[in-house]
Amino acid sequence: MTPDDLKKLAAARALELVRPGMRLGLGTGSTAKHFVDMLGARVADGLDVVCVSTSEVTEAQARALGIPMSTLEETPELDLTIDGADEVDGELRLIKGGGAALLREKIVASASARMVVIADDSKLVTQLGRFPLPIEIVPFGLEVTRRAVMAAIASVGSAGELVLRRKADGTVLVTDGGHYILDAHLGAIAQPEALAAALARIPGVVEHGLFLGLATAAILASATGLTIVGT
Ligand code: 5RP
Repeated sequence: MTPDDLKKLAAARALELVRPGMRLGLGTGSTAKHFVDMLGARVADGLDVVCVSTSEVTEAQARALGIPMSTLEETPELDLTIDGADEVDGELRLIKGGGAALLREKIVASASARMVVIADDSKLVTQLGRFPLPIEIVPFGLEVTRRAVMAAIASVGSAGELVLRRKADGTVLVTDGGHYILDAHLGAIAQPEALAAALARIPGVVEHGLFLGLATAAILASATGLTIVGT
């Protein structure tokens, strides 16, 4: 099985959680894309749901498939969000934002009664931090914010390089919200809660990719089958 087959397996299992009439949050990334494709096929067969997307990319995909789309203004309470992750640990703590959609992903997840992560089991880790932690910042005062982020990281006993995220053409990546992303290459995050709190205190930080206490379950696919963490 290819990694893409595993993503499809996890997405297909998540589709079984969807019930008629549900208000759904749609994630971003290659795994979430499979889920949206599968959901689109069910909608074409008559499934009645209403969805809110976590990025412009997912919004366009869902609309092209004919999935009924709403906004958090019209639909501020969601039943279930299905999204991918860059890392998930045994306590369902996540690193997200590899696809630069962490801000909307976190807002949508926080509006959802349940957030179910779909991924191949390479995303399951014993300690968060091998994947660089995305930190979304406002462009104004970039150097001030960069220094404050470095200090916050040091204050919780971590260390590493901060890299301003760029697109393949070398230009600085701008998120759907008009912000930049600093990727923190930490190797390991010993105290995710303390780091999250320290980052949240920095004025120029809009959000960070530590999703703590948001995911209610993870569906992890491997060549030998599915593992479900949580409910
Ligand atoms: C986007 C995300 C994605 O969910 C995360 O990067 C996982 O993506 P993929 O399913 O392509 O591995 O957080 O901001």
